[in-house]
Amino acid sequence: MDIQWYPGHMTKTKRMLLTQMGLIDVVIELLDARIPLSSRNPDIDTIAKDKKRVLLLNKADLASENITARWEEHFRQMGFFTLPVNAKDNKKTGGTAKLAALLKEIMRPKVESQKKRGRINAPIRAMIVGIPNVGKSTFINQLAGRAGTITADKPGVTRGRQWIKVGSDFDLLDTPGVLWPKFDDQQVGIRLACTGAISDNVLDKITLATHLLTLLTDIDPAIIEKRYRVTTASLAGAASATDESGTSNEVNVPGEINTPSEAALQLLTDIGNARGFKMKGGVIDLERTAIILIDEFRGGKLGRISLEWPE
Ligand code: G4P
Repeated sequence: MDIQWYPGHMTKTKRMLLTQMGLIDVVIELLDARIPLSSRNPDIDTIAKDKKRVLLLNKADLASENITARWEEHFRQMGFFTLPVNAKDNKKTGGTAKLAALLKEIMRPKVESQKKRGRINAPIRAMIVGIPNVGKSTFINQLAGRAGTITADKPGVTRGRQWIKVGSDFDLLDTPGVLWPKFDDQQVGIRLACTGAISDNVLDKITLATHLLTLLTDIDPAIIEKRYRVTTASLAGAASATDESGTSNEVNVPGEINTPSEAALQLLTDIGNARGFKMKGGVIDLERTAIILIDEFRGGKLGRISLEWPE
C-alpha cells in the first residue's frame, strides 16, 4: 500500500488548520459511521485540543443502528459531543437541524457572557473537517441550504478559504486543505478501501473484494449467504482457525494485504458462479464479481453494516 504521499500533504494541511484555530469556537469532525476510528484523522486531537468538539457519524443509514448507538456512547464518554447523521437524506433525518441545536447548546455559556458585555448576535464559528469522501460537501450543502452564502475572506484567513453563513447564528469554515486519513495500518487501509474512502487504485478490485468477504464473513456469514446463495463455510473456517485473540474488533485478514486468501478467492468464485458471471469457456469473471460485491456493499444492498465497533 503506497503511503508515501501522506506526510507532505498533511504537514501543509496541519499548518493551515493551526493558523485558523484562533478564529474557531467549535470543531466539527465528520466521520463515516461504518468506520468511525479508521475515518478519523488522529492529528485533529492535537490541532483542536482546546476547542469544543463535535463528532458527526455520517452515512448512519449504511451502518448498524445498534453499533452506531454504541459509538455515540463511547465518544460521549471520551468527552465529545456526537450525533449520527445522514447527509444524503437530511430532510428526512434532520441531522443539520439537530447539529444547529447542539451547537447552540454547546455555545450557550459563551453567548450569554458575550451578551452581558453588550456583544449580541456574534455568530458561532465552527470549522468542519473530514477525510475525502466522508460526505463533507453533501453535508455542507444541506447545512447551508439555499440561505447559505459563501462570505468573503476574513482578515487573517488565507485567500480561498470558504466561510459559509448558516442562518444568522453560525459561520462555518470548510477545512483548509485536504485531510487525509492515516492508513499506514493495513486493517485501517482495508476498511477505508472497502467503504470507498481511499482510491480504488490502492488495491485491485479482486484483492479488495476478498478482504471485504473476509470482514463480512467474520461479522456474520448470513450477510453473504443470504444475498448470494452461497456457503461461506470454508472462509469462516479459515478465519476462525486463525482467530485466537478473542478481541471483538480484530478481524482476520489471512495472508498479505496484496495476496488474496485462497478461501476468500474461492468464495468470490462461488458468488460469480451463483450470479452467472461467466466468460468464454465458462471461466468465472472475478473482476465483475468483485465490482458488484464492492458496489453492493457500499450502496447498502447487503444491509446496514458497521466494520468497526467499540471494545
Ligand atoms: P466529500 O465532500 O467528503 O469528499 O464527500 P461527498 O459529499 O462528495 O460524498 C461522497 C459520497 O458519499 C457521495 O456519493 C455522497 O452522495 C455520499 N454520501 C454522503 N453522505 C451520505 C450519507 O449520509 N449516506 C449515504 N448513503 N451516502 C452519503 P457518490 O457516489 O460520490 O455520489 P452520488 O451517489 O451522490 O451521486
